[in-house]
Amino acid sequence: MQQSDVRPESMERITSEGLAKQFIDAQIEALRSQIGDSKVLLALSGGVDSSVTAALLIKAIGKTLVCVHVNHGLLRKGEPEQVIKVFRDQLGAELIYVDAVDRFLDKLAGVSEPERKRHIIGKEFIDVFAEEAAKLDGIRFLAQGTIYPDILESKDGIKAHHNVGGLPPELDFELVEPVKLLYKDEVRVVGKALGLPDSMVFRQPFPGPGLGVRCTGAITRDRLEAVRESDAILREEFAKNGLAGKVWQYFTIVPDYKSTGIRDGKRTYEWPVVLRAVNTRDAVTATVPEIPFALLQHIADRITAEVKGVNRVLFDLTPKPSATIEWE
Ligand code: XMP
Repeated sequence: MQQSDVRPESMERITSEGLAKQFIDAQIEALRSQIGDSKVLLALSGGVDSSVTAALLIKAIGKTLVCVHVNHGLLRKGEPEQVIKVFRDQLGAELIYVDAVDRFLDKLAGVSEPERKRHIIGKEFIDVFAEEAAKLDGIRFLAQGTIYPDILESKDGIKAHHNVGGLPPELDFELVEPVKLLYKDEVRVVGKALGLPDSMVFRQPFPGPGLGVRCTGAITRDRLEAVRESDAILREEFAKNGLAGKVWQYFTIVPDYKSTGIRDGKRTYEWPVVLRAVNTRDAVTATVPEIPFALLQHIADRITAEVKGVNRVLFDLTPKPSATIEWE
């Protein structure tokens, strides 16, 4: 571990807009002197860490930052559109949008083993990103939204640090990691001070393989659409009912089996949607919060009425352990 990867004991925790602004000003100066007139590339997933990193760099170096947003088809409803709206339209970033949906889904077709799915998604992401980087001239730096827990966890051997979209080994760039000494809550305070929307700054954690691990077994486009649509309904209802900021993570899963139902007097044979909501501090263990029953019923009504191919809604009552948070 390099000395620059150690957070100094004297570093004050960033808890207010004023402290965030001081951090931003200092970083802008440091980034300008590190980067000069060179070009910087960033894989922008739309997650908190990469979004805050991008917003900082846009402030510091403007259009010499090139953001690449890869849509792998496993993002939540409205996410690619939000990335484009915020970064290209509002912040004026140089943003390359890559529609790689068919490419990912074709590679994943028929693959049911969870770790194999993860591997394909991770590898394909690096390939797409490397191809985009190869099309660009004069890139010297690669920016990453590494945060302090990533450094601590890879030092402790808890997990190998890899941001999806992280440094492809065959690409020889210098790294720029402006938020690497910050904890997650500090990254959010900085993001807010940079003017990013709350929906981006207070976004719940979202796995790199995205909805792919919530469309269990072999992913099909129609079932993936059922995951995306049911997830959007759950998020909308949690936000409307004041639960969005209170529950740590919540999403839907659509397993790859069907059950019998009835609609308009006719037999159906369709998928169930599973609702998952958990609270946790560190994702190592998790509990299931009590959700008002009337709200669960309302969400079930909406999902069975609005999501194609779904006739049943279940609520996962299981803490971690014995279950993990994700189903795959
Ligand atoms: P589990 O399912 O292991 O999840 O209880 C713990 C937390 O990690 C997230 N998660 C992932 N994040 N890539 C990620 O970037 C992954 O492959 C992955 N798998 C799980 C999960 O959403 C939860 O917040």
